[in-house]
Amino acid sequence: MSLRYEAVVRLLRDPDRAEIYSPKAIKTRLSVPGDKSISHRAIMLASLAEGETAIHGLLWGEDVLATKHMFEAMGVKMRVMDDRLTISGVGLNGLTAPQHVLHAGNSGTTARLVLGVLAGQDFFSVLDGDDSLVRRPMARVVEPLRQMGARIEGREGGRYLPLAMHGIRPLKPIVYRLPVASAQVKSALLLAALYAGGESCIEETVPTRDHTERMLRTFGVPISSENGRICLQGGAEQRFVSPGTISVPGDFSSAAFWLALAVMHQDAEIIIENVGINPTRTGFLEVLQAMGAEIEVISVSSVEPTGGTLQGPAASSSALVGEPVANLMARTSTLNGTTVAGEIIPRLIDELPLLAIVATQAQGRTIVRDAEELKVKESDRIRDVAMRLQAMGASVLATDDGWIIDGPTPLKPAELPPSSDHRIAMAFSIAALIAKGDRPTILHAPSVAAVSYPSFFEVLKNF
Ligand code: S3P
Repeated sequence: MSLRYEAVVRLLRDPDRAEIYSPKAIKTRLSVPGDKSISHRAIMLASLAEGETAIHGLLWGEDVLATKHMFEAMGVKMRVMDDRLTISGVGLNGLTAPQHVLHAGNSGTTARLVLGVLAGQDFFSVLDGDDSLVRRPMARVVEPLRQMGARIEGREGGRYLPLAMHGIRPLKPIVYRLPVASAQVKSALLLAALYAGGESCIEETVPTRDHTERMLRTFGVPISSENGRICLQGGAEQRFVSPGTISVPGDFSSAAFWLALAVMHQDAEIIIENVGINPTRTGFLEVLQAMGAEIEVISVSSVEPTGGTLQGPAASSSALVGEPVANLMARTSTLNGTTVAGEIIPRLIDELPLLAIVATQAQGRTIVRDAEELKVKESDRIRDVAMRLQAMGASVLATDDGWIIDGPTPLKPAELPPSSDHRIAMAFSIAALIAKGDRPTILHAPSVAAVSYPSFFEVLKNF
């Protein structure tokens, strides 16, 4: 074990525990694993398309593997070679009834999007999840799918997993205004709409991530999107064809950890290559820049869904998915407090725990509002972030829909309570990397990072 390794993180497997120290300086260049949201959608659409799809850059995280196993359980053949997943699509009507309960594990995206697909199958299925997922709300998907004709039974009238689904074909088309700003609900309904006998339209008042719309276009499905109204015609079999190859860009939500670290740390410069910068995902970048963060966006390229011209080296890696990518460079910065509320919230929802940590290092008050959705993520992130930041000496007040944070306050090492939430574990590893004191921060269950970023602690070891 080198001194340098010892200086930053020690992973102790038994018990599953990490000791994290603050490094004096961080100068590094890295890339992050494939985008989680795009990886789920790539597997689902490749499974439902006609023809073979090779997916490059897939995220091999537990959440995405749950989606993979689910479609395999419904008869889709997949093979892995050199880190590339090749899927033999069965066509929109080619899935077969699963013989066992479908298990979404910890993955809300798997559960909610797959419900949309299952609604349009003429077979019976049962969907379950882990201890965290069975507590997360499903009525937001179940209710509109029932309006489309699916029969769904479940705990508390179908508000929670496990759910039993009697799909129906064709489903009734739907015009539906989303009551919560949720890309998972929007996507579930767009997938169900493929099986509807007519045109369905989903309306959103606040924009959410649009990876499903982009990916559907990549698979040749005509889909219109104007002023928050997204419409598609059901029965799209003829046009639902594999693009052949898909390259998944790096996950902005994973890059966000390194952006946060670089801007907070006393002596840091981090370059992150090949990051997806879809504007429906990059609210965190905008907020950091508004706080004074020094972050450069380099070699931005946009790739057309149908495989338009590639510009620059970063562009090639998202060929055919219609997603913009860039390299990001972040360095030590002087930060000011800010207010984050309203329309931007869905565009940085997964990065809000990190933003709360960054806010402790900013001059003045930071207020986060309108983020009550944080309470129904993999954990109650409003409560869990506040509790951990307080343990590290920050001035944080949890509110009903966010936090009030006063800074700057130095963070001190602490033994943090265990969490089964991957983003909480990783966000507080970043907090630990800037904590000052003569002992390490103790983080329990670091292995939970495998849900979305299996190599996270390997990166820490290399600082
Ligand atoms: C996701 C949408 C968001 C996000 C989640 C991934 C997706 O959830 O928090 O991590 O891939 O569609 P909601 O749609 O529930 O806001």
